[in-house]
Amino acid sequence: MASLKDKIVVLTGASRGIGAAAAREMAPDGGHLVLTARTPDACEETKAAVEARGSSAECHGFDVSDPDAARAFVDGVLDQHGRIDVLINNAGTNVMGPVSEVTPDRYSSLLMVNVMGPYNLIHAALPSMLERDAGTIINITSVRASMPDRFYAAYCSSKAALISMTQCLHYDLADSGVNIFAFSPGLTNTDMVREIYAVPAFRASPLRPEDGQPPERPGKVLAWLAREAPADLAGQHTAIQFNDITLRAGLEGA
Ligand SMILES: NC(=O)c1ccc[n+]([C@@H]2O[C@H](COP(=O)([O-])OP(=O)(O)OC[C@H]3O[C@@H](n4cnc5c(N)ncnc54)[C@H](OP(=O)(O)O)[C@@H]3O)[C@@H](O)[C@H]2O)c1
Repeated sequence: MASLKDKIVVLTGASRGIGAAAAREMAPDGGHLVLTARTPDACEETKAAVEARGSSAECHGFDVSDPDAARAFVDGVLDQHGRIDVLINNAGTNVMGPVSEVTPDRYSSLLMVNVMGPYNLIHAALPSMLERDAGTIINITSVRASMPDRFYAAYCSSKAALISMTQCLHYDLADSGVNIFAFSPGLTNTDMVREIYAVPAFRASPLRPEDGQPPERPGKVLAWLAREAPADLAGQHTAIQFNDITLRAGLEGA
């Protein structure tokens, strides 16, 4: 089995939810995890958990929607560590509501985080990956990209854009040793989902946040994806609950 031992792994959105769980699941490999959120302090708890499980870690704070901040962050990691082996674009946000409430500014802010955030980091990190002809990029998207719903226009369209971006970049990277993946975790009980279900329109949903899987489950699959970077999934939209991915990742019995 592949391992993240001695690998430099950048993980955005590492303070909470799926990102924090993925960091904990990757930690036993003995790599170095570069954890980010909007503030460095937000990642301290994840850092402590990672260090207790066998990897070294560091915390950074910046807004992924800011291209200059993303570039300064990537340049700093490259200066300090010389390379980025794995880039996981997990940070994301949500805006729900009718068009009368979701103003163009709010919609634009969401796109800046969910679409431009990954692009900013990829744009900054990719040249160094191409120079080494090695690297793994994982974009966290959502099955909501193809499951339209009331009041969900901003979020669903942002995740659809991220899938399309991933699929296109896969072609750009075809002759290189850099692989790119789009990964959808499935309904997971996190702050984001609790906020979505607090929106009155969603109280009618048959689902509740508690029906979501614990973050550890997509965290384990994400750790597997980061380790293995399976060639057959590169450029694909991989939704963990709709195929044999959890089986391949070792979560289910055969
Ligand atoms: N939960 C689900 O059911 C589900 C399903 C499908 C896809 N996803 C996707 O999975 C990813 C993680 O979601 P989650 O449920 O774990 O969310 P979460 O618990 O709300 O955590 C969001 C993470 O993103 C970071 N973040 C948000 N905005 C940021 C910004 N502008 N700049 C930098 N970091 C920012 C947050 O950092 P701070 O602590 O600093 O705010 C936090 O670490 C997201 O991309 C989400 O769209 C989730």
